[in-house]
Amino acid sequence: MRISVIGCGYLGAVHAACMAKLGHDVVGIDVDPRRIDDLQAGRAPFFEPGLPELLDETLTTGLLKFSSSMADASGADVHFLCVGTPQRKGEYGADLRHVDSAFASLLDALEPGNLIVGKSTVPVGTAARLADDLSRQYPDAVLAWNPEFLREGFAIDDTLSPDRLVYGLPAGEAGLRATRMLDAVYATPLSTGTPRLCSDYATAELVKAAANSFLATKISFINAMAEVCEVTGADITLLADAIGLDERIGRKFLNAGVGFGGGCLPKDIRAFMARAGELGADQALTFLREVDDINVRRRIRTVELTRTLLGGSLLGKRITVLGAAFKPDSDDVRDSPALSIAAQLQLQGAEVTVTDPEAIDGARRRFPELMYEDDLTRAMDGADALLLLTEWEEYRDLTPDVAAASVGTKNILDGRNVLEPALWRRAGWNYKGIGRP
Ligand code: UGA
Repeated sequence: MRISVIGCGYLGAVHAACMAKLGHDVVGIDVDPRRIDDLQAGRAPFFEPGLPELLDETLTTGLLKFSSSMADASGADVHFLCVGTPQRKGEYGADLRHVDSAFASLLDALEPGNLIVGKSTVPVGTAARLADDLSRQYPDAVLAWNPEFLREGFAIDDTLSPDRLVYGLPAGEAGLRATRMLDAVYATPLSTGTPRLCSDYATAELVKAAANSFLATKISFINAMAEVCEVTGADITLLADAIGLDERIGRKFLNAGVGFGGGCLPKDIRAFMARAGELGADQALTFLREVDDINVRRRIRTVELTRTLLGGSLLGKRITVLGAAFKPDSDDVRDSPALSIAAQLQLQGAEVTVTDPEAIDGARRRFPELMYEDDLTRAMDGADALLLLTEWEEYRDLTPDVAAASVGTKNILDGRNVLEPALWRRAGWNYKGIGRP
């Protein structure tokens, strides 16, 4: 198939490269010429394991190219809309400006029989609105909504071998035509048994909002249990293991810690609440407000735990924060719990040094007031406390002896519960986990 991918951010750049890997002829389009130059030169604009190699491979075969001109979308049969939908400033709702402008300019490049496929995370009702516009101007073109479920850090595998494919479709012959075209796009994953679910637009849009809401709820649930563990002396990691063995519950996404962040879960649950409010169904989602509150409380609680660990005062204390990204194997610092905790500690008088294998440049742009150090050993030098806030492998593998050789005082807060408390305590460390005695 000839494919265009509009928007080459996280979703679009990965999607474009993966579609070329599946054998399609792909052009990735973005309004940012620097991003396009980078991608065309095989440089990934963000850290994603395997992406540089995949770009190299697909650019070399000639199946992938990038352009900053929407005119280059013409000639494609299928156009994927992959632009961002950030949270609106000062509001909960999603900002749809990029979706609307990409859609409007794509219409100029459209040819009869083309299929537009929305992948961006949008408020329910968006696809129907865009489909209305499309049918007025191009009655022969079709719109489908095909939400994306990829995780950063596993983006390529998740795109090439997704858990499921969801097609939001118009009724009748147009829907059947869109299904045939999408089946051709995804022929490889479908041939290996990937489940495919066809629905109306609203259901497809809601599948995405509901999936992220459920994941956020699972994390906040276990963090709420961690709060109760903290006042009872119980251990949240054992509790999670025990309830996770029940297949109906499952162990995944039950890791208590500093909470969820990133460019998706926090803004998606807020946008979902805002949209439900517009539709008069706000009561249905009031629990998400609690999910959000629990999550924010984790950050405040971590600051308090650090103060306790340091004997009651943060003033002038040297704190080393291990990890700046919102999760490991990513350089994404959007709404990163680690960075917001680091900034709060600094505000309250501590001297905070942040280290991270990949995210320091992005972190520095967001929080220039913090100190940054690439080298782990130097970052820990003379620290009064270490805070492990993003569980990169090199921090999970840190040993008490190696860390002790650098720090000033042996205090450690394990904000992701990934260290072995007994090991650290035996080595003379003052160890504190989240929701663990
Ligand atoms: C999330 C979803 O997992 C994807 O399915 C979805 O496609 C994506 O959002 C999106 O909407 O685009 P992602 O933002 O990459 O993916 O990150 P997750 O792996 O979901 O992690 C989110 C946050 O939850 C991270 O800060 C992570 O550290 C935290 N987390 C995760 C926990 O605190 N505990 C857990 O047990 C799991």
